[in-house]
Amino acid sequence: MSEPDLNGAYALSGPEDCLQLYAGWADSYDTDFAAGMDYLLPAQVAAAFLEVGSTGPVLDIGAGTGLLAAALRGLGFAGDIDGVDLSAEMLARAGTKGLYRALHQADITRPLPLSRGYRGMVSSGTFTHGHVGPEGLPPLLALAEPGALFALSVNAAVWEKLRFAPALERLGDVITGLDLREVAIYGTGARSRDPSHADDRALIVRFRKL
Ligand SMILES: C[S@@+](CC[C@H](N)C(=O)[O-])C[C@H]1O[C@@H](n2cnc3c(N)ncnc32)[C@H](O)[C@@H]1O
Repeated sequence: MSEPDLNGAYALSGPEDCLQLYAGWADSYDTDFAAGMDYLLPAQVAAAFLEVGSTGPVLDIGAGTGLLAAALRGLGFAGDIDGVDLSAEMLARAGTKGLYRALHQADITRPLPLSRGYRGMVSSGTFTHGHVGPEGLPPLLALAEPGALFALSVNAAVWEKLRFAPALERLGDVITGLDLREVAIYGTGARSRDPSHADDRALIVRFRKL
């Protein structure tokens, strides 16, 4: 079997596929993928979340190996951060970093076995090809406090394909202050590693729960 990579990740088609891919990717994800691709997205989401004044507790959605929590801590965020992810292997890596209050293994597209009360919801790299679409939003809203700030990346190539705009419009009576920012997912270091994805973009979707 070939090594896990971005093409494999983008070709996934559901939770079973995801579990298999990330079980084999968890050990090398930080050093091989994130460092090799000059992966900027966790830092972009962390900055977007913190620039409008944010408090915890925060839920990191599709937390993976903990890169977004590390970016939040790096920017000085001191509140509680919980993580949720489908993959036990990715969460095991995240757990070694001492960043999270709690880590939960769950599928975020289903009603979540977590207590409500989050004042922040962040996510990088999870709303993308073959992973999670807008169906992931209602279970997250159900866990958020009124006024909670969401900062979620959505891969720009799936924004229209998975119909994020109409899905957000349908949530119009439960969210407010929607704003979008387009950012680069990878830095210049990705050019030599994987030119076909080096220029990939994401939208950072920010809103508050009413
Ligand atoms: C590209 S990784 C991003 C990880 C981390 N946020 C980052 O930026 O490095 C996507 C993560 O989403 C998780 N994931 C995919 N589908 C999921 C689902 N339905 N529920 C929870 N996590 C999911 C995967 O297990 C994987 O850890």
